[in-house]
Amino acid sequence: MDNTLSHITQPVKKEMEQFSSMFADALSHTDGLLNEVLQYVMRRGGKRMRPLLTLLIAKTLYRKMHGALYRDVAKVSHFIGLKDNAVYYKSLRAACSLELLHTASLVHDDVVDEADRRRGQASVNASYNNRLAILVGDYILSTSLLQIAECAEPRMTRAVAHLGQTLSGGEVAQQQNISSEGFSIDDYYTVIEKKTAALFEACCHLGALSVDAPDEDIVKVRNFGRDLGIIFQIRDDIFDYSDSAEIGKPTGNDMREGKLTLPVLFVLNDKETECPASIVETARKVKRLEATEEEISELIAYTKDHGGINYARHAMDTYYAKAKSYIDNEVDDKLLKPALQAFLDYVIGRTV
Ligand code: IPE
Ligand code: IPE
Ligand code: MG
Ligand code: MG
Ligand code: MG
Repeated sequence: MDNTLSHITQPVKKEMEQFSSMFADALSHTDGLLNEVLQYVMRRGGKRMRPLLTLLIAKTLYRKMHGALYRDVAKVSHFIGLKDNAVYYKSLRAACSLELLHTASLVHDDVVDEADRRRGQASVNASYNNRLAILVGDYILSTSLLQIAECAEPRMTRAVAHLGQTLSGGEVAQQQNISSEGFSIDDYYTVIEKKTAALFEACCHLGALSVDAPDEDIVKVRNFGRDLGIIFQIRDDIFDYSDSAEIGKPTGNDMREGKLTLPVLFVLNDKETECPASIVETARKVKRLEATEEEISELIAYTKDHGGINYARHAMDTYYAKAKSYIDNEVDDKLLKPALQAFLDYVIGRTV
């Protein structure tokens, strides 16, 4: 975790530590090969942004309802700890379940995308093989459901199960876009809402459910999560145009798998630059998976030279403004407000 993120973590530092041990316990297993692959997956932890968001939201809404200092001894048994920074046990389970679902989706994603690196090490499919990646991904997904079932809250279980459907639906819609003609920006947003923003929305939703937040707060905080998630994926798609080795996963891969993301979609749709026919034809070839490495490089260079990256950066601004207005208008807490603002700034500016 880099410095910026550890700064954001401060208000839920204890909870994040408890999350880590819960997460490691959930994925420990005694069987030889299964255990080996699980340990391999856990060796590189990722940024843990989803549990962090879940816990920050749970704590924000909890403190909004009950005040900063909780002293009702009768209800203390519901808590992991007695200190001011304690949040519901259910919040920790939700954080754990969501990070597990995220982890499973990455293990499967690298099979679908034929990607050989993840979190700075060989992906599971590259280090082992596709079969094991699918099977272990399924194991992790089931572990996610087991974690949320521990809460014995049907609304929470339903939200996680529904999320699994949305994420898979988004990935299938993405495949459908690849094989269809056309360069629709609307279709792009539909896909990223499902495959990525839905997970951030679920972090906020489950964080809120875990502390029994009122319905009106749930609606608002879910919108906040969705906006964060859209920014997160546009940022991720911009990364794919760079050649930085620090990202820890391959770049230029989106076009190799036929995927046209916001920067290139902008130049293809831009009336003013009037994209030359040869560029449009190259983009079609990308979608048919017939483009050579050289053609992909050309299309990336054209996109960069014609304002595609700039456009995508600006596209994030609208979502940023909406997310910021949630924090400005809905969060008063002195401890949590700056942390949520820092989380938002991290999402839009992150470099890994
Ligand atoms: C990667 O998410 C998947 C996307 C939605 C782009 P992260 O960049 O949060 O992955 P880790 O967990 O930190 O590795
Ligand atoms: C992000 O898609 C959504 C999921 C991982 C499910 P990507 O395919 O862009 O994610 P990365 O870039 O491989 O992490
Ligand atoms: Mg991928
Ligand atoms: Mg993918
Ligand atoms: Mg990506």
